[in-house]
Amino acid sequence: MKIPQKGMSKDDIFERLGDYRSRDLDWQSGRVFGYIFDPGPEVRDVAKEAYGMFLTENGLDFTAFPSLLRLENELVGMMRHHLNGDEQVVGNFTSGGTESIMLAVKSARDYFRAKKPQIKEPEMILPATAHAAFHKAAHYLGVRVVQVPVAPASYKADVKAIAEAIGPNTILIVGSAPSYTHGVIDPIREMAALALEKEILFHCDACVGGFMLPYFRRLGASVPEFDFSVPGVTSISVDLHKYAYAAKGASIILYRNKNIRRYQIFACSHWTGYTVVNNAVQSSKSGGPMAAAWAVINYIGDEGYLEFARKKLEATRKVVEGIEQIDGLRILGKPEMCLVAFTSDDLNVFHIIDEMNSKGWYIQPALSYGNSPRHIHMSINVSNVNWIDQFLSDLAGAVEKARQSKSDESSEQLRQMISSIDFSSMSEEDFASMLQLAGIDGEALPERMADINEIMDFLSPEIREQLLVEYVNNLFA
Ligand SMILES: Cc1ncc(COP(=O)(O)O)c(C=O)c1O
Repeated sequence: MKIPQKGMSKDDIFERLGDYRSRDLDWQSGRVFGYIFDPGPEVRDVAKEAYGMFLTENGLDFTAFPSLLRLENELVGMMRHHLNGDEQVVGNFTSGGTESIMLAVKSARDYFRAKKPQIKEPEMILPATAHAAFHKAAHYLGVRVVQVPVAPASYKADVKAIAEAIGPNTILIVGSAPSYTHGVIDPIREMAALALEKEILFHCDACVGGFMLPYFRRLGASVPEFDFSVPGVTSISVDLHKYAYAAKGASIILYRNKNIRRYQIFACSHWTGYTVVNNAVQSSKSGGPMAAAWAVINYIGDEGYLEFARKKLEATRKVVEGIEQIDGLRILGKPEMCLVAFTSDDLNVFHIIDEMNSKGWYIQPALSYGNSPRHIHMSINVSNVNWIDQFLSDLAGAVEKARQSKSDESSEQLRQMISSIDFSSMSEEDFASMLQLAGIDGEALPERMADINEIMDFLSPEIREQLLVEYVNNLFA
């Protein structure tokens, strides 16, 4: 690939882009239960217009672009109010849940570096259901993860196990409202009380739920407390690019007060160039995502979101009841928002997914980990609500088909190979040939993924991670 000698025409460019996109997940079909939070064409147009309007403005310097400072402060103000914060609560706009979480962990680390310099190897306590972004933050920031199992039937954080895991190096406890995996809300009040008592910081990860849960509560759903009304909650992440329907690249990180947020901010005068002071991870950044988020929230408004929540609540209840009625399927935990996880004790769920994929549905596979079995995950959205009956009928059909599926020969071969492998001495080449044998070679994944998922499920998390790294290292140019 080379830069073209002469610039292409606009028509050619958009034709090419359209073609590249033609093999993507068809998110406009209403059959996709993940990745996409689509509010429909009208709101999407508002987002696009605002994004385009601020495409070029640079968040690197909010003194040069006071419009961005104002947009950010207004968004933070709205989220502070939405999540019951008082006037002490402060926050910032970030590019997504992961960046918000990274910043919360960095702030906790640096807060304790200042307050308790005797802590040399800081630790944070994560229930097994805490999002992978916390592991990433730990990895990037040199914080040790102390992971504790969640309660077996509810999949909620186990407060007693957390209390036992607290040690002299603990700086942060994390809870989710709700967890992505099972869509259940951790006992935030009890967890935060424990943190308060032990003088540890507590982060509530409300990335996926923080925006919608207050609306679900207003509609009469039972939503346990999770926000700044709970003493001991010191930071909350809430994504706007999920159930607030903003364009991607939009999240808010909130702190109980400026004394904690101070440790998020990075300033550098140790170089020859312009003065650097960043309130988040990114330096130069488009004003587009922030303007789009501001525009979408103001456009949909409180009543609009309540109506979205009503539709999702109804659809989720229907999905849960429908799945419970299908012989062989079982819901994991009791979903408290619009995220649903279900499994089967006698069928291979990965075959069910393949059957559903072949009918144009996207539902997400999840491997077993700790006390959470391999399962299927669905994030239910407004774009899905008119498709639920069709979904449930196709799901019942897919379950019947999955009863008849059996693994093919190559996966049997691979499984045999796996049981004879000493993973501790595997080279990069061994991993590469394993991937090849599994049919994972080049860009396109095989159409049917059940066997690959089953094999991944059979491997330890460490080996899964190594395989994934090899796969991605080969995939990208
Ligand atoms: C609970 C929770 N936390 C964090 C994240 C990470 O968010 P992002 O993908 O925006 O980085 C997600 C994403 O689904 C999530 O559900």
